[in-house]
Amino acid sequence: MTREKNGVALPRVFVARRIAPEALAMLDNQAEVEVWEGEAQPPRALLLKQAACADGLLTMLTDQVDTELLSGAPRLRVVSNMAVGYDNIQVSECTLRGVLVGNTPGVLTATSAEFTFALLMAAARRVVEADRFVREGRWRHWQPDLLLGRDLHGATLGVVGLGAIGREVAVRARAFGMRVIYCSAHRHPDDEARHGLTWAPDLGALLRESDFVTLHVPLKPATHHMIGREQLRMMRRHAVLVNTARGPVVDQRALYEALRDGVIGGAALDVAEVEPMPPDEPLLSLPNVVVVPHIASATVATRTRMAVMAVQNLLAGLRGEPMPHCVNPEAHNVILSLQAKNRRTAPGAAP
Ligand code: DGY
Repeated sequence: MTREKNGVALPRVFVARRIAPEALAMLDNQAEVEVWEGEAQPPRALLLKQAACADGLLTMLTDQVDTELLSGAPRLRVVSNMAVGYDNIQVSECTLRGVLVGNTPGVLTATSAEFTFALLMAAARRVVEADRFVREGRWRHWQPDLLLGRDLHGATLGVVGLGAIGREVAVRARAFGMRVIYCSAHRHPDDEARHGLTWAPDLGALLRESDFVTLHVPLKPATHHMIGREQLRMMRRHAVLVNTARGPVVDQRALYEALRDGVIGGAALDVAEVEPMPPDEPLLSLPNVVVVPHIASATVATRTRMAVMAVQNLLAGLRGEPMPHCVNPEAHNVILSLQAKNRRTAPGAAP
C-alpha cells in the first residue's frame, strides 16, 4: 500500500546499499524506502525493477545508471550518488529526461588526500612488502641494505589534476618537504603562490620530472587510459605511480608490463580497471605494487558524511528544492518545460 503524508503519496526511494543509520533515518516519514541489504551491489535486474517504480535512487559508484535504466524508469526524478565521482551515471541522458543527479564533493577531500599519502608512503618505503617479509618468517637479521626505499623529502611529486583532492595532496606533500609540480585543465596561479607549486605545461613534462606521480582526474573519454605505454615510458625508472582516481585512467596491462620490465619503479592503486580486481590479475604477482580495494574515502566519519549528503541531495531534489550538490542543474529547465507541456496536454486544459 502506498504510504501518504498529509494526504499526499510519499515518494518511492530505492537505496542501493546499507548506509549510515543516521542518514537513513533522515528518510523516515519522507519517503517510502527500500534498502538493498546485500554486501555486493544489487543485481542489475533488481536495480532495473526498483528503478521502474522509483521517484528517487540513492546509488553507489558501482550502480550503472544508463539509458536502459532511465528508459524503464518513468517516475524517476532524482539520482543521488554517494560519491564525488559520477562516471557510473549517464548524466546527459538524465538531463534530457529531467532527472537531477547529485554527488558528494567536499566531505571526502581530506580523507581521500590522506589515503593517497598513505599509499605514497607505503610504496616509497615498501611497507606492505616489509610486512609480508616479517609474516613469512624472513626477518632473521638487521641488514644495512634490507628493504631500501626512497625518501619523499627532496623528491618531486607530480600531481595530475589540481582539483580539490589533488590540491590537498599537494599541500601535504609540501609539508613533507617535497617539490610539487602539477598539470591541470587550468593553470592555478593562486595555488602556485600560496603553496609553492610549479606548473607543468603538459603531462609529458610532468611525467619526465617526477619521482612520484599521483592521479586526481575524473574518468571521462578524455582521461580514459591517460596513462598508457607511451606515458609510462616517459616516467623515470624509479618513479612510483599512485592512482586513487578511477582505474580506467590507467591502461592496466601497460602498467603491469612497465612494472615487470623495470620501466617504472612501483605503483600503488586504490582503483582498478575492473573492480573488484580478480585474484589472478597479473599485477598481483609483482612485489612492487600495492593494491587496496577502493577505500580512499573509507573512514567512519567520512562515509557517514557522504551518506548524509547523498540523502540531503535526494530529499531536496524530490521536494523540488535546490540540491546541495547537483551535477546537472540544467535539468531544471527540462523539468520546467516538461511540466508546461503536461499542463498543456492535460484533460480540460485550455486549447
Ligand atoms: C568517490 O567518491 O568518487 C570515491 O571514489 C569513493 O569514495
